[in-house]
Amino acid sequence: MKNLGILLSGRGSNFVAIADSIAAGAIPNARIAVVISNRPDAPGLETARQRGLNAIAIPSKGKPRAEHDREVVAALLDNKVDLVCLAGYMRLLSPWFVQQFRARILNIHPSLLPSFPGLEAQQQAFAYGAKVSGCTVHFVDEELDHGAIIVQKTVPVLDSDDEPTLAARILQQEHIAYTEAINIVLEGKFNLVGRRVVKGQRSEVRLQK
Ligand code: GRF
Repeated sequence: MKNLGILLSGRGSNFVAIADSIAAGAIPNARIAVVISNRPDAPGLETARQRGLNAIAIPSKGKPRAEHDREVVAALLDNKVDLVCLAGYMRLLSPWFVQQFRARILNIHPSLLPSFPGLEAQQQAFAYGAKVSGCTVHFVDEELDHGAIIVQKTVPVLDSDDEPTLAARILQQEHIAYTEAINIVLEGKFNLVGRRVVKGQRSEVRLQK
């Protein structure tokens, strides 16, 4: 059984999609060991509590990044987390944090990276006039929205779209993409060739510390 740790800051729809996948048996042999939010009032945290999950607030406000990251890493280790899933976690991780969970942190971003990294990616794609957008699940490295890509899903940008309709179409695909990516990583049936995540035989067990 692998332990997932979810980090979020807001609504938490990606967290709910992951939890639903686990409940439906679509992510076998995994459980959510802890849900952590840097914002105590994040709706996703309340949802996690309602679902009977271990949900903790570790407030980041007014705290140096290094100190906050130490607290979060300690909570992940306390809960024996194997894989960290960022799900709308609005904080940059320090290089030290990334090193503690090297190749064991995933993030979801609402654009086809490397296009439109950073905040409000859906709005960036819409304003740029892109005809196709989508979402990306990737490993987290020391750079923002940069690590090796595990899954991408595309969606069309329609002439009739506004930003909310585009964002909603992307979000539907996010919920599908995150489950797929978690399964690829937990099964370990891939190789990292440079930046490329290439499916193949299970190599050495990646999720062991
Ligand atoms: C999603 O669009 C995700 O791609 C981005 O933040 C948003 C979080 O939404 N990183 P939710 O909290 O999972 O509903």
